[in-house]
Amino acid sequence: MLRVGIIGCGDISNLNVLGYIFSQDTELVAVSDVDKACATNKLERWGLRTLKYYQDYKEMVDEEDLDIVEILTPHHLHAPMTEYCARAGVKAISLQKPMAHTIADCDRIIQMCKEENTILKVFENFRFYPIYLRAKELLDEKIIGEPLNFRIVNILTGGPSMPVGLRAYSWRINVETCGGGPEVFDDGQHKLSVALWLMDEQRVEEVYGWINYFTGAIDSPANIIWKYPQKSPDSPPKFGSMEFTFASNLYFPSNYYGIDEFIEISGTKGIMWINQCTSGGNFLSKTPQYPPIVVYVNGKVKKYGEDLPRDWRYSFINSTMHFIDVVKTGKGKPIYTGEEGKNLVIFGKMPYISHQEGRIVKWEEINAEAERKGTCYIEPPPPSAGRGMVKYNMRKKKDLKKGIEQGLKHKTFEYEYNL
Ligand SMILES: NC(=O)c1ccc[n+]([C@@H]2O[C@H](COP(=O)([O-])OP(=O)(O)OC[C@H]3O[C@@H](n4cnc5c(N)ncnc54)[C@H](O)[C@@H]3O)[C@@H](O)[C@H]2O)c1
Repeated sequence: MLRVGIIGCGDISNLNVLGYIFSQDTELVAVSDVDKACATNKLERWGLRTLKYYQDYKEMVDEEDLDIVEILTPHHLHAPMTEYCARAGVKAISLQKPMAHTIADCDRIIQMCKEENTILKVFENFRFYPIYLRAKELLDEKIIGEPLNFRIVNILTGGPSMPVGLRAYSWRINVETCGGGPEVFDDGQHKLSVALWLMDEQRVEEVYGWINYFTGAIDSPANIIWKYPQKSPDSPPKFGSMEFTFASNLYFPSNYYGIDEFIEISGTKGIMWINQCTSGGNFLSKTPQYPPIVVYVNGKVKKYGEDLPRDWRYSFINSTMHFIDVVKTGKGKPIYTGEEGKNLVIFGKMPYISHQEGRIVKWEEINAEAERKGTCYIEPPPPSAGRGMVKYNMRKKKDLKKGIEQGLKHKTFEYEYNL
């Protein structure tokens, strides 16, 4: 049995814990959080109230002889916590994305885990969402020929959705603790991961971005475009784009965060649409217009993935199961490795520098040396941030209420947590 400890019992721990609860190969032995009430609350909810609690994570690591540590804390704490665990001899560490708030810290984590022979996983769950796994299989079979253009639409909705603590916002809207903004950098890590993986790429070459803070500290609306590296002069150029829209009046029930994703990939002989991820399974999923995967090729439209679970939690369970298997068998590599996690952090920073400087940013410009020189510093939101807040967001509650009164189908919402 692999002994597991969790550091950080905030919002996401509810989902990260699932894989360990289901696994026959691990035993969850302890949790740590500076906030005792938050940790004991979670233990109660998970039905694990007898588990050991530590306020100080170092004490937990020193006393519990852990094989696996799951780090689920704000980004600026990822490197020091990884360092402590690795030095203390923890065999394997799963670090929630983004790997760190700076490239220097990514380098430090990679170096540390190499020196201590620690298995390091950067936890990015979209990569394991059942519908996305199916889409990847189809793409690998060349169902749409050679994929040329990737697009992901992110809609931040008016909910109703899972409650997110104010504390979780406070460190996310601070560039010093987050490493960028809460959407493009933080949540964007998932979308950029999928943009590389589905297109069979390791990184991008150039990025251009517009990032707006119209509604406050949230970096949305935003539009980002990029170019993948061209493999040879006679291979086709490939591009990608990502957009974030804060649709604050959009009634859109979700069991998880108030956001959803829609992907479109154009290839040399077809087009693929992948509908929904985070909010998959809600009423939109049940309409005939939104099957999980749609492919148009050779004059025919086909649907795929309707037999698969459309519930975001499976991306977490699958990701953790994969990691446990790597640790247990010593075979294969975690998804993602430190180097791959660092690539995502670089990618996530490029659009901000582009927006700040009004130019295309190249991959090579974002590194620890540039951080030291101050040439890839992400600025905090401008003083004008939030000008649209009152006008734009005040309508939200009214319209949502009005919509519900007018008889929208889903009048109530409950956070589903069925084990
Ligand atoms: N995979 C996903 O879809 C996803 C979604 C949300 C968050 N995340 C990631 O998960 C991580 C945590 O995010 P969250 O939303 O749960 O944040 P959160 O703010 O809800 O939780 C963070 C927790 O860490 C605790 N903490 C802070 N300092 C600590 C310390 N020194 N020792 C022990 N505990 C400490 C806090 O008390 C808090 O309970 C971040 O890396 C975030 O980007 C991933």
